Amino acid sequence: MNQSVPAWERAPAFAFDAAHCRLSVLDQTRLPFEERWLQPASVADCVRVIREMNVRGAPLIGLVAAAGMAFATREDASDAGLERAAAALLASRPTAVNLGWALARMRATLGPAPPGARPALAAREVLELQRSEYACCERIGAHGAALLGALATSERVQRRGRLNVLTHCNAGWLATGAWGTALAPVYRAAADGIAVHVWVDETRPRNQGARLTAWELAQAGIEHTVVVDNCAGHLMQHGEVDVCLVGSDRTSARGDVCNKIGTYQKALAAADNGVPFYVALPCSTIDWSIEDGLREIAIEERDASEVLLLEGAGTDGVLRTLRHAPAGSRARNVAFDVTPARLVGALVCEHGVFAPSAAEMARLRAVAGATPERV
Ligand code: MRU
Repeated sequence: MNQSVPAWERAPAFAFDAAHCRLSVLDQTRLPFEERWLQPASVADCVRVIREMNVRGAPLIGLVAAAGMAFATREDASDAGLERAAAALLASRPTAVNLGWALARMRATLGPAPPGARPALAAREVLELQRSEYACCERIGAHGAALLGALATSERVQRRGRLNVLTHCNAGWLATGAWGTALAPVYRAAADGIAVHVWVDETRPRNQGARLTAWELAQAGIEHTVVVDNCAGHLMQHGEVDVCLVGSDRTSARGDVCNKIGTYQKALAAADNGVPFYVALPCSTIDWSIEDGLREIAIEERDASEVLLLEGAGTDGVLRTLRHAPAGSRARNVAFDVTPARLVGALVCEHGVFAPSAAEMARLRAVAGATPERV
């Protein structure tokens, strides 16, 4: 990164004022056309911004859910009040495990305390969660940058003069609050002087790649090119991708990776072309209670209108929605898919780089320690 102030400090995706229990989030439904911040101020507001995807990305929705619990302690700090709030927040989006993980942490902190002590405790815990997400992502950046550094020494990269990374959806600081998961190694590598270029899958239907990843890479001064989702296989066949780096919303104990729809196809193309396929994630994204990601992960299906309609700004800068399929056509909007562990080259987390083999996953589980009880 060539800016002195990191982009996530200039335009914070998540800012929580613990002293006054105030939250400010960057409205990701307006990017890249407008930088607008929202101030959710209740449990219901937090549920709404997660469901409507004003905030999105697994770690970030965990943080917003935690802030929702801080609001809950001010609305009704009784056990029953907190249970109701946690249930509403948990139901806001089903796939990312970080949501339940953050809620479990908040409940574990608040449960033993008397209701009167809960508001102050909750506010502190939100900041602690934010701090630990930041630290995890920073470490993911360091571990991942070492992998990118090794790849950058290849003859092909040397000849080309830049390392080509392909990413899907948005797993940058917009999805985590700082650094990102898949993009953290890119930012770290660029700061270390490695010439990095990112192929950005547009990521239909909501275009988190074209709208969010391209925007945040531009903010950080990282060279990038947006490609349509179906382009990745072609690029790999022609030696134009050195590594695929993606995030995850829920990864099973054996290393099956659930991520934005289309991730599986990138992994298949990567396997066919001998391109390393790495997944960057904090351990809070691993669901140790499940083995078989394909059968056991609840996949979110969203409204068909996201497939049938396109949103963008006209030359006047005004956001517009256009239909691009016949009126009356049906659509299905499956939001995530699962890439089996056998197609994943490595999991890059805050503890280092792990292969999704039984032995390595057991080692990671031991290092990561016991996870809190799930909501
Ligand atoms: O539907 P979204 O935009 O919340 O999906 C996000 C993703 O799939 C990301 O890749 C994932 O959360 C990675 S975590 C930084």
